[in-house]
Amino acid sequence: MNYLVTGGAGFIGANFVKYLLKNRQDIKLIVLDDLTYAGNLGTIKEELKNPKIAFVKGNICDPQVVETVFEKYNVDFVLNFAAESHVDRSIENPQLFLQTNILGTQNLLETAKKYWTKGKDENGYPVYREGVKYLQVSTDEVYGSLGDTGYFTEKTPLDPRSPYSASKTGADLIVTAYSETYKLPVNITRCSNNYGPYHFPEKLIPLIIKNILEGKKLPVYGDGSNVRDWLYVEDHCKAIDTVLHKGSPGEIYNIGGHNEKKNIEIVKLTLSTIRRLMEENPAYRKALKVSGNSIDWICEDLITYVKDRLGHDKRYAIDPKKITTELGWYPETKFEDGIVKTIRWYLENQDWVAEVTSGDYQHYYQQMYGNR
Ligand code: NAD
Ligand code: DAU
Repeated sequence: MNYLVTGGAGFIGANFVKYLLKNRQDIKLIVLDDLTYAGNLGTIKEELKNPKIAFVKGNICDPQVVETVFEKYNVDFVLNFAAESHVDRSIENPQLFLQTNILGTQNLLETAKKYWTKGKDENGYPVYREGVKYLQVSTDEVYGSLGDTGYFTEKTPLDPRSPYSASKTGADLIVTAYSETYKLPVNITRCSNNYGPYHFPEKLIPLIIKNILEGKKLPVYGDGSNVRDWLYVEDHCKAIDTVLHKGSPGEIYNIGGHNEKKNIEIVKLTLSTIRRLMEENPAYRKALKVSGNSIDWICEDLITYVKDRLGHDKRYAIDPKKITTELGWYPETKFEDGIVKTIRWYLENQDWVAEVTSGDYQHYYQQMYGNR
């Protein structure tokens, strides 16, 4: 089968490319990515040596680019990971989010409809080539924000509150519209916060790791009590693969692992884990960007509470009952193991961090966090 993976040079897309090549035989993979600041070919450089992969640099909003991909490769599945994904950036530049996330999605759907249609039924609905599917990688943020209790189910009303989540909601609605109006076979997956290798260091966990290694302050928005529901990225990849192959067309599946943590807990755990790993194995101190042998300064004094994010959603928490009971998916990585695996990966892959932050990153950091 031929998989079109958009955004395959980003965090989750790249992990999905690695997952597919490891776990599925007889596939052809076409990665379409515009290589924005968040996309890095170095992340999939080993995979790109595999003859099963083709890489196309291009924008999902460009009809010509997407048509050329469909023309050249007999695409069976579209997995749309490509997006502007960072809430803070969406507050600064909402329009780009609407373009990429909504119009890009619509362009992919339209092209898929065109190339997959093989006729019409008696009511005028398109009839599609057997076995094709479009899967939209969405987010729990479309449901808005929770109070101290309760969970997001697939029936929770949509209530996005940031430009990012509004754009992802718009994308979900256009996917649903193609399902209802044209009977295009689609699924939408809505996942909670991912963590793991290759996470760009603008997001909480990799940013905190990077700052610790540079001896910088650790910016915690507001009072640090906002809650996120964390899932190891490989578990997310497995869930997407499961939905693609077993999900009923037209259905939405929430993905999460009941792993809620306050932001401040995450920051403190990251601090104590880095320090412990460096105490147990002094070789890890090579990752430090500050001189001297002592690591006593790796402590909670580094934490600094900064101005809160505008419209900061208080709490996310996914109810994954549907995907678990209907499709048999469950998360395999316990948070205690996943976070250590992730931190070790960053300690051992400082070249990757240097590579992805060599461009615009310093400017972005200065603008967001000043001289902290
Ligand atoms: P990311 O920012 O790390 O990667 C996005 C990728 O998309 C990059 O490779 C980028 O170059 C590419 N891209 C951006 N605009 C493009 C365009 N116009 N055309 C082609 N390629 C383009 O994002 P991520 O964290 O890997 O998220 C992937 C998807 O998963 C997104 O749709 C996001 O909304 C969703 N999601 C993310 C999380 C999370 O915790 N990271 C959780 C739930 C859902
Ligand atoms: O819930 C799924 C979403 O998770 C995805 O749809 C998004 O693409 C992904 O970026 C993520 O969004 P968040 O806004 O939750 O992730 P982020 O890592 O930016 O922030 C996590 C929490 O940490 C959030 O409450 C804000 C806080 N934070 C973040 C940063 C970058 C800080 O306190 N300090 C920081 O410096």
